[in-house]
Amino acid sequence: MELLRTIAELQQRVRQQQARGLSIGLVPTMGALHAGHASLIRAAAKDCEYVVVSLFVNPTQFGPNEDFAKYPRSFAADCELAAKEGADALFTPAVEEMYPEGAATFVEVEGLSNRLDGASRPGHFRGVTTVVTKLLAAAQPDRAYFGQKDAAQVAVLRRMTRDLCFGTELVVCPIVRDVDGLALSSRNVYLTADERKQALALSRAVRRVEALVAHGERKAEVLLATARASLAAEPNLKIDYVELVNWATLEPVKVAEAGTLFAVAAWVGETRLIDNAVVG
Ligand code: PAF
Repeated sequence: MELLRTIAELQQRVRQQQARGLSIGLVPTMGALHAGHASLIRAAAKDCEYVVVSLFVNPTQFGPNEDFAKYPRSFAADCELAAKEGADALFTPAVEEMYPEGAATFVEVEGLSNRLDGASRPGHFRGVTTVVTKLLAAAQPDRAYFGQKDAAQVAVLRRMTRDLCFGTELVVCPIVRDVDGLALSSRNVYLTADERKQALALSRAVRRVEALVAHGERKAEVLLATARASLAAEPNLKIDYVELVNWATLEPVKVAEAGTLFAVAAWVGETRLIDNAVVG
């Protein structure tokens, strides 16, 4: 696996592979790779002939009081995992490479960017769509891989790639969970042992909603009340949002149907966690 540090190096390497007729897969990440990222890289390596994993802790998607400075960084372990799962190149640009002096162009998906996580984290999705646009423009991949855990991000990026006519197919891979059900996240390392137990309330709420839907319950008011009651059983957890939405528009729905997303975000101590399931 080769290390690419500049956009020029990335473009040159990708163009060479495209000239050889190889398909390109891109797995955008912020590093601190775990089994969830591993599943994205494996999927890319299965579908594509040349796989680039980008590793960039993107400052523009963090709010002023968020965890940019302390976001976990584990470069050596990330290189090992990416190579093992089949990445051909790891793109690790410096901040000045992605945002050179005077950079003044941002990409924003209006409306969608202010829902779910976008409502609690103003400006977050503008940072995500800007950096993903840069990565797609530089790498011009046939396919780009994202995890369902960031379901609102998926909705925003789907809309962006459609609206901006990117030829890239977005591939969404299932949530990967720890044995106890906790959705894997690079931020799980922030949790103390007690918080780790409290955090299980999120996946428990997701499972309760899935079980109700499997038994025929479709009404949002019942599903959301059940989820809230389940989360309330864990007093140390602070709900950010509990929503039943159309996954494409992120608009609330009254009845779960095909394409409905149940999504939850909550604070456990200082750590904000998310989880979701497609129901209906
Ligand atoms: O999902 C993430 O890790 C980030 O939001 C992404 C897509 C790599 C953009 O920085």
